[in-house]
Amino acid sequence: MKRLLHAVSPVQPIAAVVTVALIVFAAACGGAPEAQEPASPAGLAVGADLYQSNCASCHGADLQGTDKGPSHLSIVYEPNHHGDDAFRSAILHGARQHHWNFGDMAAVTGLDNDEIDDVIAYVRSEQERQGFDQ
Ligand code: HEC
Repeated sequence: MKRLLHAVSPVQPIAAVVTVALIVFAAACGGAPEAQEPASPAGLAVGADLYQSNCASCHGADLQGTDKGPSHLSIVYEPNHHGDDAFRSAILHGARQHHWNFGDMAAVTGLDNDEIDDVIAYVRSEQERQGFDQ
């Protein structure tokens, strides 16, 4: 018994260090909850394409609006005023005319949840890149 303990004990501190290191590593990599997944470049490219084919006819290829729909660079659409859920809802259910005089927006069909997230991420990145019209 004594001999066995003796044989094992030098390994224990190493095992403890490895265990602690693994826990710290895991916590740093994935343990902390993320509020929002960061937009990946691939997701942004998909979002840009989907925006062009589904939104640009009214909201403009550069997001700056057309005679059929408002600019998404209007300060009205900044994240604190029209959050991501407002975008999700407009896509899924449409939006009644209330801010402008373009008429109602019909729901946009054919986009799954991931695609909707990509479209929103693209709009947010363009809002950041181009800034808002005040
Ligand atoms: C057929 C034209 C048309 C298309 C296509 C269109 N929209 Fe709209 N959208 C409008 C109009 C018009 C409004 C303004 C409604 C109003 O008066 O507030 C609007 C408003 C919105 C709003 C604001 C909703 C709110 O709660 O006030 C969002 C967000 C939006 N659109 C996102 C999108 C996105 C994203 C797409 C593409 C996936 C899209 N729209 C496609 C016409 C369109």
